Amino acid sequence: MEKIERVLTKEEIQQKVAELGALISTDYRDKEVVLVCNLKGAFIFLADLCRHITARVSIDFIATTSYKGTKSTGAVRIIKDLKLDVKGKHILLIEDIVDTGYTLDYTMKYLALHGPESIRVCTLLDKRCKREIDVDIDYIGFEVRDRFVIGYGLDYDERFRELDYIGELIQEGN
Ligand code: IMP
Ligand code: MG
Repeated sequence: MEKIERVLTKEEIQQKVAELGALISTDYRDKEVVLVCNLKGAFIFLADLCRHITARVSIDFIATTSYKGTKSTGAVRIIKDLKLDVKGKHILLIEDIVDTGYTLDYTMKYLALHGPESIRVCTLLDKRCKREIDVDIDYIGFEVRDRFVIGYGLDYDERFRELDYIGELIQEGN
């Protein structure tokens, strides 16, 4: 049987997203920022966050995949590229969760090849205790401990992305 244990409520998430949006608006005032959403996990976070940003915004998407067994190999691949030309632009990469850090590290290096003026990172969740590679994150929503979370864009086997809260999937019995 499956059970979902609540980790973050809809209200807690929405409050945090508004705070992050205000912070980003201040930091990027008088600038144009390209929000680059890492699909699929960050799509709901991006949709809510962008509506709290008052700076001039454009939006693009990138998709990555990583091959992992029980342990992360760090082998990350880009499966959907940027559409916009970000040369000379300020990029803010929007992530759902940073776990080992390999996805973020690879994506940052990849984006840097496009010659942007700056790159910063905003992640909703930071599973810091699992980090295997050092990465700098500029905006963090919540730190989570070592457990598999779902909802608000995050999936387990493509399920649960539509939930408006974040929970831990508990598998009981079987
Ligand atoms: P990393 O490369 O190990 O940092 O993994 C980052 C990616 O793994 C995220 O973008 C998610 O797609 C996925 N991921 C890591 N932890 C979780 C989790 O607890 N729930 C859902 N997806 C996760
Ligand atoms: Mg996933």
